[in-house]
Amino acid sequence: MQVENKIVIVTGAGSGIGAATAKHFAKHKAKVVVSDIKEEKAQKTVDEIAKDGGEAIVITANVANFEDVENLISQTVDKFGRLDVIVNNAGIGPKHMARTGEYTLEDWDSVIAVNQTGVFYCMKVALQQMEKQGGGNIVNIASLAGLKASLNNLSYCASKFAVVGMTKSAALEYATKNIRINAVCPGYTESALLDKLLSVRPDMDKRLKSVIPMKRYGQAEEIADAVVWLASENTKFITGQTITLDGGTSL
Ligand SMILES: NC(=O)c1ccc[n+]([C@@H]2O[C@H](COP(=O)([O-])OP(=O)(O)OC[C@H]3O[C@@H](n4cnc5c(N)ncnc54)[C@H](O)[C@@H]3O)[C@@H](O)[C@H]2O)c1
Repeated sequence: MQVENKIVIVTGAGSGIGAATAKHFAKHKAKVVVSDIKEEKAQKTVDEIAKDGGEAIVITANVANFEDVENLISQTVDKFGRLDVIVNNAGIGPKHMARTGEYTLEDWDSVIAVNQTGVFYCMKVALQQMEKQGGGNIVNIASLAGLKASLNNLSYCASKFAVVGMTKSAALEYATKNIRINAVCPGYTESALLDKLLSVRPDMDKRLKSVIPMKRYGQAEEIADAVVWLASENTKFITGQTITLDGGTSL
């Protein structure tokens, strides 16, 4: 995949899909800024990339904090001179699963702040830089929950529908500016996020697998592969699209 020498930021890259994506970009010779709210997790990803001969640095940022996002992008541009790709991956789930009537205000606010406002902040600042330099590429990590109803998970579902809407709207705005914006919608994928859900509801493992036609969870590397492809020179005519990677669940 043609991403050699591209300057790439991956948010939430200390774990799961973000870490796999950062490693995949590095494997294809991109220069990667591994960003996470947790520095030690980001450093672990960078160490693993370095061990495999790739190039990466850590810049810590909470995507729900606008100043952090401005620092992330200005430090990247100070160091590398430009920003070619940002993968808006950082995301969280609610602490409690509940119907809308019982949904806590805390779970609403925290999930919207990271998954929705965080993606807006990163797109807003990245797009200013990309327009200034004459091009760029954004890949947002949405979810199957951004395309379909999600039981007892309202803020997560709302935030991921918003990511799909923001992807399409911004893609339209920047189509003539050599800036492409796409999203991937993973189904259930092995990661800390899924482990957390299964630790609260161990009964879900069997139930979830029963609704996945392929009868298995996705691997973070499988999602990473699609993200790098969308960000690469191999997909120059694709913008404003969502790609669903869910083992057939949405069927
Ligand atoms: N795992 C799945 O089944 C699944 C399915 C669909 C979509 N997704 C989406 O994929 C993305 C990655 O999820 P994952 O499963 O790899 O989760 P994960 O929990 O393994 O990784 C998320 C990373 O984001 C970081 N993070 C959390 N809040 C942050 C913040 N405010 N600022 C910066 N970093 C922050 C965490 O420290 C962590 O390293 C999320 O957007 C998630 O909603 C996951």
